[in-house]
Amino acid sequence: METVGDAGVIHQADAGDAAYDFVVDDVSKVFAGATRVQALSNIDLRLKRGSFTCIVGPSGCGKSTLLRIIGELETATKGTVQINVPQSKTPRSAFVFQEHGVFPWFTVLQNVAFGQQMASVGKKEREQNARRWIAEVGLTGFEHSYPHQLSGGMRQRVAIAIALLNSPRLIIADEPTTALDVTIQGQILFEVQKLCRETGTALIWITHDLAVVAGLADRVAVMYAGRVVETGSTADVIGHPMHPYTHGLIASIPTPESRGRPLMQIPGMTPSLLNLPRGCAFRGRCPRATDACLAEPQPEQVRPGQWVRCWHAGGPRNP
Ligand SMILES: Nc1ncnc2c1ncn2[C@@H]1O[C@H](COP(=O)(O)OP(=O)(O)OP(=O)(O)O)[C@@H](O)[C@H]1O
Ligand SMILES: [Mg+2]
Repeated sequence: METVGDAGVIHQADAGDAAYDFVVDDVSKVFAGATRVQALSNIDLRLKRGSFTCIVGPSGCGKSTLLRIIGELETATKGTVQINVPQSKTPRSAFVFQEHGVFPWFTVLQNVAFGQQMASVGKKEREQNARRWIAEVGLTGFEHSYPHQLSGGMRQRVAIAIALLNSPRLIIADEPTTALDVTIQGQILFEVQKLCRETGTALIWITHDLAVVAGLADRVAVMYAGRVVETGSTADVIGHPMHPYTHGLIASIPTPESRGRPLMQIPGMTPSLLNLPRGCAFRGRCPRATDACLAEPQPEQVRPGQWVRCWHAGGPRNP
């Protein structure tokens, strides 16, 4: 029996997939246009309602593609996305994109009420619902303001209210707050997570900034070159990163101790998805790389619920 607030789990397929609301099984995606892009390779992901998963990884590693597939905006080339949520009045997923989804010529109230136009709800009820969600995201008093009269963070809250008001089972937020300052990002994230917990909505949040979600997400999935290279509870991944890329990512977060010292940088560039190297895609930048890395690393469970794709996970040559 699933319970609201259970942490989502991302790991290799297991027997109990029916217990999860969203099951991504061995998903790969190839964009085969003028050039062939291997955008995703063998992604496994399990999500439960009420859970908060953060996806982090460098630009172009496939984060948005993965979320578009989960949100049914794109089809997978291989593998399946199983959604164990009845297609009823409740939409299965809603997206929050950066600077998207708010009409400039509508007031806040009109924007939020419009979000339910498609549902068969009367005008009065629509407005009542809209006012409720406007209050939930802390915008009471701004119902009749136009988006240009709001700050970036407030506009983002409008988009979040629109995403939440139809009670989707999953909210997919694709770097929705990167344009905002860190304090506001944290505040919005905190509020969205609270609302998702209360309503049992699962939340996936893409970010470049692991520090922003570190204290809030239940689980973290680290992507690199179209693969999930490490996943686990946020505490495990941040406290004991086992993949050298995750290790570098965390070492590059500024901390009070690192003040005045140069932050660690991962040398080299992310490989092109047009022409992926043989074996581990990170090996060209990796201080632990050996000949073993010429073969593709398979996922290994290093702690309960923490999976890593690395032949030298946390190994002797820890950078
Ligand atoms: N419709 C498409 N047609 C062809 N290639 C695509 C398409 N959409 C994405 N790609 C390619 O797939 C790869 C992954 O793109 P994606 O947008 O998922 O990356 P991302 O991790 O979200 O990057 P960013 O952090 O910059 O948003 C990129 O190489 C991109 O060029
Ligand atoms: Mg993206």
